[in-house]
Amino acid sequence: MTHMDFLKKFKRFNPLEPSLAILGFFFLSILFTGCFFYVDYKGILLHSKVTKPFSFHFSSSPSPSPSPHPVQFLTQQGDNCHVFDGNWVWDETYPLYHSSNCSFLDRGFRCSENGRPDIFYTKWRWQPKDCNLPRFDGRKMLENLRNKRLVFVGDSIGRNQWESLLCMLSSAVTNKSSVYEVNGNPISKHTGFLAFKFADFNCTVEYYRSPYLVVQGRPPPGAPHGVRLTLRVDHMDWNSHRWRDADVLILNAGHWWNYEKTVKIGCYFQIGDKVKMNMSIDNAFRVSVETVVDWIAREVNRNKTYVLFRTYAPVHFRGGDWNTGGGCHSETLPDLGSLPALSDDHFSTVTDVLSQHANKSNVLNLDLLNITQMSERRKDGHASIYYLAKGKVSMQRQDCSHWCLPGVPDSWNEILYALILKKKAFSERNTTKVSQVSL
Ligand SMILES: *[C@@H]1O[C@H](CO)[C@@H](O)[C@H](O)[C@H]1NC(C)=O
Ligand SMILES: *[C@@H]1O[C@H](CO)[C@@H](O)[C@H](O)[C@H]1NC(C)=O
Ligand SMILES: *[C@@H]1O[C@H](CO)[C@@H](O)[C@H](O)[C@H]1NC(C)=O
Ligand SMILES: *[C@@H]1O[C@H](CO)[C@@H](O)[C@H](O)[C@H]1NC(C)=O
Ligand SMILES: *[C@@H]1O[C@H](CO)[C@@H](O)[C@H](O)[C@H]1NC(C)=O
Ligand SMILES: *[C@@H]1O[C@H](CO)[C@@H](O)[C@H](O)[C@H]1NC(C)=O
Ligand SMILES: *[C@@H]1O[C@H](CO)[C@@H](O)[C@H](O)[C@H]1NC(C)=O
Ligand SMILES: *[C@@H]1O[C@H](CO)[C@@H](O)[C@H](O)[C@H]1NC(C)=O
Repeated sequence: MTHMDFLKKFKRFNPLEPSLAILGFFFLSILFTGCFFYVDYKGILLHSKVTKPFSFHFSSSPSPSPSPHPVQFLTQQGDNCHVFDGNWVWDETYPLYHSSNCSFLDRGFRCSENGRPDIFYTKWRWQPKDCNLPRFDGRKMLENLRNKRLVFVGDSIGRNQWESLLCMLSSAVTNKSSVYEVNGNPISKHTGFLAFKFADFNCTVEYYRSPYLVVQGRPPPGAPHGVRLTLRVDHMDWNSHRWRDADVLILNAGHWWNYEKTVKIGCYFQIGDKVKMNMSIDNAFRVSVETVVDWIAREVNRNKTYVLFRTYAPVHFRGGDWNTGGGCHSETLPDLGSLPALSDDHFSTVTDVLSQHANKSNVLNLDLLNITQMSERRKDGHASIYYLAKGKVSMQRQDCSHWCLPGVPDSWNEILYALILKKKAFSERNTTKVSQVSL
């Protein structure tokens, strides 16, 4: 594709954009740097000096010995590749599906159908620095899930990712009526549990709403005045027995561990039968993650279940918060440059707890779906004012937490796909162990 073609496309998508020239310039720069990256990858461009001015973080690393055939993550050489370290690259073959062709999406994620004018946000592919991911193949993933259950548990960002995976998988299925909710519930119903069956593969892809992962309920008798609810940070969600036997289990939490959704509404933290009036939210979140890790160790059959914890998905409100007029509706491009070091408490709490349990978590068969930093670059990926039909949204009430689909969660799922295949390749290498590892 030439730059002119690109600009033509650009014009077509943004006929009303006044600052076309400026944005065009940005885009050309990105295209250039994108080319350098590509070339760099192919090992033709040997002088890292050339890419320095663009300060991409991959060019600042000591020149990796250029190889004409980049390492494939699924091969043995790819074993040490950190798939979460990389950058976004423009890819004309994306997106992997169109929202208008997928009946499993909430209105709130259908940004293009809700009037979002640019489609750039659908065109970025995640490229790890040191290896290539396999191209997503919905059929292959379904074959791997045959007779199995894949379960997402968490908040609505978990639902965002679940719906993304439903679209990615169902686009590989021709008979659309062979994909259905097991209880006949519509996707839009705000129910705590939805399970889609892919009949030809006898597998289900399920979502359980559990934003805290631990129990939320009425306070114990004798609780101090003003306590309306408690989060029992030492007790797993009552529904956890229904997730326990999944073959793949993807947990997430974080977005609901804030003042507005807890203490402000009279929801305090409880350990045993005691309400801990002074417990900080950060500390309560930490204890809840420890509870989750202990639960996995105690209750989950690690020979069967592959457990992943998805790290916090960043939000991108500018000029305010979600309830004070913050927004992201004018963001159309990712941050491809170097990012400041991340200081997200939810992220570090989870990684802290897991690294403290590092020796345990190896035994736990627990992986981190470490998507925080990669998604931090995607301020362009949120639903902003396009979560409802045009004209129905106030500029003061933007959604810079959830992601447009197709979009960023697709890339999390591509990595999930790669990790599942990797696990399988790994176990096949040790043939004597195949019988014990089901993925
Ligand atoms: C998560 O990924 C980032 C790169 O995206 C990396 O810098 C960080 O060390 C990773 N953290 C963990 C705990 O794996
Ligand atoms: C929707 O799917 C049909 C058939 O699979 C395909 O022909 C069409 O191009 C798709 N539409 C979009 C917008 O992708
Ligand atoms: C379908 O998958 C379930 C596990 O999810 C398994 O118990 C059942 O036997 C499978 N059915 C067939 C017909 O293979
Ligand atoms: C499509 O799937 C449904 C449900 O599994 C099944 O009843 C129907 O026979 C299938 N149709 C075709 C053409 O295979
Ligand atoms: C809780 O905090 C308040 C104010 O900081 C203090 O007066 C009280 O003693 C604390 N209670 C406990 C049980 O630590
Ligand atoms: C898991 O596999 C190990 C190794 O074979 C075995 O010792 C252990 O009993 C198995 N655990 C369960 C719960 O099946
Ligand atoms: C895990 O590591 C901690 C300290 O790093 C140690 O105290 C503990 O005994 C270890 N547990 C096991 C099961 O090895
Ligand atoms: C495969 O076998 C080797 C040597 O026996 C062992 O070190 C390694 O941990 C095994 N890997 C897996 C995934 O079981």
